[in-house]
Amino acid sequence: MKRACVVGWPIEHSRSPLIHGHWLKTYRIAGSYVRLPVKPADAEAFFGELAAKGFAGCNVTVPHKEAAFRAAARPDAAARSVLAANTLWLEDGVLCASNTDIYGFLTNLDDQAPGWDKLGLPAAVLGAGGAARGVIRGLLDRGIAEIRLVNRTRERAEALVAGFGEAVRTFEWGTRSRMLANCGLLVNTTMLGMTGQPPLDIDLAAMPAQAVVSDIVYSPLETPLLRDARARWLRTVDGLGMLLHQAVPGFEKWFGVRPRVTAELRDLIIADL
Ligand code: ATR
Repeated sequence: MKRACVVGWPIEHSRSPLIHGHWLKTYRIAGSYVRLPVKPADAEAFFGELAAKGFAGCNVTVPHKEAAFRAAARPDAAARSVLAANTLWLEDGVLCASNTDIYGFLTNLDDQAPGWDKLGLPAAVLGAGGAARGVIRGLLDRGIAEIRLVNRTRERAEALVAGFGEAVRTFEWGTRSRMLANCGLLVNTTMLGMTGQPPLDIDLAAMPAQAVVSDIVYSPLETPLLRDARARWLRTVDGLGMLLHQAVPGFEKWFGVRPRVTAELRDLIIADL
């Protein structure tokens, strides 16, 4: 029986066991997938002992993604591009790592807003944390030629763009509504709009009619930002699809079946939000 887990601190909130548990049942695989709380000081050692503890691999969430990357002997290109990993697995005893958040983000956009990358317009990204780094990497990989990055703390945005080159520019937080002019995509990577957080205060009026508005927040499924975008007849992409799609490559590595993201799985997670 193959075993996998999700590792974070805290970890109780993680919906990953629900996703992988559903797939294990659907594909009739004798395996297990559990939540494991691991303290920051213990993270790197834990990843090093993954095989010895009997795991085929694991998912990694906040705040351990950088430690997971460091612990891996064989990180793939996606993990190397953001120096962080959310998926670990073993190949011939060698610890391998990937960052499937980028894949999940892009696949979700392709799914919910096909053609989003063919508009030939700039994209706007709000926030400058780890999630923003992956989103920017993904947008650049898909050929978006201009990315406008806005963060409350501008220095943090500047530190983030330093590794990305000319295509990514930072803007003052106070200009966030104006800088949306002509943007074909807006991505919120901050926690604003999440249950228990204040909503994101932004005016979408400057966005063109064909624009797509996406949120990586998925609880609530429809954030105030997405509700506002929908009211303006803009295309919207919620964050749940990213969570579901990022789980696919890990399941395939550990359990040998490439699972499908279905409406049934989506409904299962929505019922738990
Ligand atoms: P992650 O790594 O998951 O992306 P993070 O590093 O905690 O998370 O980043 C959270 C983002 O939300 C940051 O961009 C943060 O802005 P600062 O860099 O200025 O802290 C942003 N954020 C959080 N609360 C905010 C608020 N009240 N107003 C504006 N931005 C906020």
